Amino acid sequence: MNEQVADQNAAAASLSQAALDEIERECAKYPAERRQSALLAALRIAQDEHRWLSNDMIEYVAGVIGVPAVRAFEVATFYSMYNLKPVGENVIHLCTNISCMLRGCDEIQRHIEEKLEIGLGETTADGKFTLKEVECLCACAGAPMMQVNRDYHENLTPERVDEILARY
Ligand code: FES
Repeated sequence: MNEQVADQNAAAASLSQAALDEIERECAKYPAERRQSALLAALRIAQDEHRWLSNDMIEYVAGVIGVPAVRAFEVATFYSMYNLKPVGENVIHLCTNISCMLRGCDEIQRHIEEKLEIGLGETTADGKFTLKEVECLCACAGAPMMQVNRDYHENLTPERVDEILARY
């Protein structure tokens, strides 16, 4: 791990009081002995604050919720919504699964890559966008589709992609 990433890890392994309060509100939705059920929400809250989850942060959240760190790593590495490395200001989740593939996601991928001059898993030089490849996001009827941050965008064409990205 290089020094810069190590510094980011160390700096990221804490949360604001507001985030900790939000996690406690999530935990309160479950019986006290089931507070681990709030793990997904707690990781999401941590990510909202730091944009990504370092290993130290995942361990920290596990401690806050009271689950073994390995449980938090299992969850964080399973779901594509969690960013396990630093990302840009906006994250494009491009679905390349079967329906989107049959409806032309290759063309959309090529268009985004050329437009932003990045490949899958990369971030633009200005830090504005990260492009991630994801599995089916359950919007197959609107294929090809992508999610930008929390917004779904369906029935994509290269022109629509330009229009959408200009909003971010
Ligand atoms: S295959 Fe892309 S949303 Fe289902």
